[in-house]
Amino acid sequence: MADIIGNKNAKNFSENVPFANNGNFHVKGANHYDWGMKDRLSRIFNPKTGKTVMLAFDHGYFMGPTSGLERLDLLIPRLANYADCLMGTRGAIRSSVPPTYNKAIALRASSGSSVLQDDLSRESMVVDMEDAIKMNASAIAIQTFIGADGQKETIEALNRAINLGLRYSIPTMGVAAVGKEMERNTSFFLLATRMLAEFGAQLVKTYYCKDFEKVAAACPVPLVVAGGKKLPEKDALTLAYNSIQGGAAGVDMGRNIFQSEYPEEMIQAVNKVVHEGFTDQEAYQFFQHLTN
Ligand code: 5RP
Repeated sequence: MADIIGNKNAKNFSENVPFANNGNFHVKGANHYDWGMKDRLSRIFNPKTGKTVMLAFDHGYFMGPTSGLERLDLLIPRLANYADCLMGTRGAIRSSVPPTYNKAIALRASSGSSVLQDDLSRESMVVDMEDAIKMNASAIAIQTFIGADGQKETIEALNRAINLGLRYSIPTMGVAAVGKEMERNTSFFLLATRMLAEFGAQLVKTYYCKDFEKVAAACPVPLVVAGGKKLPEKDALTLAYNSIQGGAAGVDMGRNIFQSEYPEEMIQAVNKVVHEGFTDQEAYQFFQHLTN
C-alpha cells in the first residue's frame, strides 16, 4: 500500500478536458464493456443525451412510509412516464409498478438498518442476483459508507454485487452515503466516488458539493446526483443545473420530486435541465407555466 504520510494532495483534475476513453459510446468509462452491460446502461442513460433522470423512491426500505410515498401504487403511475429509470426496492416495484411500463430499474439491493437505530451504516447485499435478473434490473444499487463504522461490510457488499453483476452483465450503482460522523465536503466525495469507481461500480450516486467538477473529473464512471431533503422547487432545479454543469450524467431525485406540491410538473422541469439544456431559471419558468 502506498505510504499515506507524505502523500501529495490531488490538484490537477483537468476538469475542462472531456473524458478521453469513451470511443463512440455515450456512457463514461463504458466503452470497453460487453454488449449486455452497454444495453442495460443505455436503458438508464438516454443514448441521445447521455444523461438520466432517475426517480428514487426506495426510502421505505429503512424509513417505512414517508411523506409523498404513502401510496406508491398511486404515485408511481403519475411520474414513471417522465423518468428514464426507477430506483426502488423489489417489494415496491413488484407490488406497485406495472411491468408493462418497461422502464429501466435501478434495484435497491442493500439493506441492514432502520431509522430505529442511531447508526445506519451497516448494510449488506440482501437481494440475490438471480432475483435481479428475474426483475430485468438495469442496475443494482448498493449503499456504501466510506469512513463510517459500516465501511468494511458495505465495501464487501458492493464488491460482491460487482462480481455477480460482471458475471451477468448487470451494472452496479455504488451509492456514496454519508455516515453520521462524516462531512459532506469535496474531499469526502472525491474519496468516496473514486473508491466506488475503482472497485468497479459502473455508475455512482453521490451528492452535489463544492468543486463538484473536480469530483466528476476524477471519477471515471458517470455520477448521478441525489436530490437530498426537500428544497423549494427553484433551488432543487438549481441543484440539478449545477450538477449537470459540473459534469454529472444525471440526477437520482426523490423527495424534491415526490414531496413537491406538483410532482408531475417538477419531474418535467428536471427533465428540461437534464436532457434539454435548460438553465435553472428557464426550467423554473417552465415549472411555473405548468403550475399556473
Ligand atoms: C440514499 C438513496 C436514496 O434513494 C436517495 O438519497 C433518496 O433520494 P432523495 O435524497 O433525493 O430523496 O439512495 O440511500
